[in-house]
Amino acid sequence: MEFREVIEKRRTTRQFSDKPVEAEKIKRIIEAGIKAPSFDHMRKWNFIVLTDENAKNNAISMIKELPCSIDEPKNPFQEMVKIAFPKQRTMFEQSKAIILPVFKRHRGIANEKAFGRRFMDFAEIWCVIENIFLAIADEGLANTMRIPTDNQPEEILQAVGCPEDYVLPCMIGIGYAAENAEYPTQIYPKLEDCIHFEKW
Ligand SMILES: Cc1cc2nc3c(=O)[nH]c(=O)nc-3n(C[C@H](O)[C@H](O)[C@H](O)COP(=O)(O)O)c2cc1C
Repeated sequence: MEFREVIEKRRTTRQFSDKPVEAEKIKRIIEAGIKAPSFDHMRKWNFIVLTDENAKNNAISMIKELPCSIDEPKNPFQEMVKIAFPKQRTMFEQSKAIILPVFKRHRGIANEKAFGRRFMDFAEIWCVIENIFLAIADEGLANTMRIPTDNQPEEILQAVGCPEDYVLPCMIGIGYAAENAEYPTQIYPKLEDCIHFEKW
C-alpha cells in the first residue's frame, strides 16, 4: 500500500468481523514497531500477543463499557462518544488478537532529577505504537486502542504474567473491520491554520 494511503486508512475501529488474523501479519506488524526510533538504544520493549479466547477474556475481565446517554449527537465529539463508549469491552472481545506493548521503566533516568528526560521511555513506546498502527493498516487490518485507567495496567499485566517492572501504556485490539463498522466524523485542523514557516 502507498504510504499516503496507509495514513488515510488508519482509523480507530471498534467493530470487527469474524475473520481470523494471520499469525504472519501479527509478526510483521510487531517487526514494524521494533523499527521505531529509540532513546539511547534502550528498546526495553516486549509485546504480549493474546489470540486464545480464554487468555483474551482473562486479560480484559476488568474492562467495562463506559456510560453514554447521547442519542442524537450534536457534534463530532458526541458522535465519537456515542460510537465508542458502549464498545469499550466488545471491541476487544471482537478483536482476533490483542497486543499489549510493554516497556521496562528506565529507573536510572526516571529517578534522576533530570526533568527533561523523565518521559523518554513513554515517548519511545509511543513511537513504537504508531508504527504498529500504521503497519496494521498496511496489512489491510484494523485496530482499536485503549489507554487502561486506574489500576488496570497492573491488573492486566498481572493477568498475563508480565514481570512487575514493566509498564502497559496502551492496549491494541486487531482484526478485520466489520463491514458495518462505524467511524465518527473527524475535523482536522486546517493546514494553513496550524503551520508556521520560519516564525509564528
Ligand atoms: C491518547 C489516546 C487515547 C485514546 N483512548 C481511547 C480509548 O480509551 N478508547 C477508544 O475507543 N479510543 C481511544 N482512542 C482513539 C481515539 O478516540 C481516536 O483516535 C480519535 O477519535 C480519532 O479517530 P481515528 O483514530 O479514527 O482517526 C484514544 C486515542 C488517543 C490518541
